[in-house]
Amino acid sequence: MVITIDGPAGAGKSTVARLLAVRLGFEYLDTGAMYRAVAWLALREGLLDDVDSLCRRLDKIQLHIAGATVTIDGLDATPFLRDPEVTRASTRVAAHPAVRVFLVRLQKKLGESGRIVTEGRDQGTDVFPQACCKFYLTAEPGERARRRLAELTASGVSPLPTLAELEASIADRDNRDATRPTGALRAALDAKLVDTTALSTDQVVELLEREARIRLAAVGAP
Ligand code: DC
Repeated sequence: MVITIDGPAGAGKSTVARLLAVRLGFEYLDTGAMYRAVAWLALREGLLDDVDSLCRRLDKIQLHIAGATVTIDGLDATPFLRDPEVTRASTRVAAHPAVRVFLVRLQKKLGESGRIVTEGRDQGTDVFPQACCKFYLTAEPGERARRRLAELTASGVSPLPTLAELEASIADRDNRDATRPTGALRAALDAKLVDTTALSTDQVVELLEREARIRLAAVGAP
């Protein structure tokens, strides 16, 4: 029983996915945090520019994700996942097919365990094409940058980037995410498209919950 939420950076996926999961009594899976954790490890170990070593390293990586907490080889990566350097590096590691194979395998395994709301770029297309309910969230770039700034401010990141820097970095990540050869950002044909630009978080969650309950009922979910 899988609900997928895909879309570009800053479209509000994480907040909405977490709240939707609570309302439905589902688990929540933040797949961006998995790419961020691998990026953090690659930075720590100086492997970001050494694709071959990074790929070999994947065989030995123990990655665990539970809610908002990600541990990698027993180290808690959670406090570092939103650092601007890790954010930039995550887009780069996400472009390596071997990293994607490794994380997609893990995501599929987590999806087997029950009822999840999973959020990312390729969840409704490549990872869970059979999901009973799929959403594709988007919002105008200026609004996405404003939301990212509010998120970074709330989590105490310092120094804060400017709005213009955030817009430029979001545009760059969108471009990289959408043009990579595997796991590219795109909406599944059967996903419901939701433009969140003019909607509050509550309104988006309401809309998704209504749609999800209809689709879950249609497949006979309890
Ligand atoms: O959603 P996010 O900003 O936390 O994602 C971090 C990076 O990981 C982003 O550049 C896109 C990439 N990503 C991906 O390629 N596939 C996913 N399923 C999730 C994230």
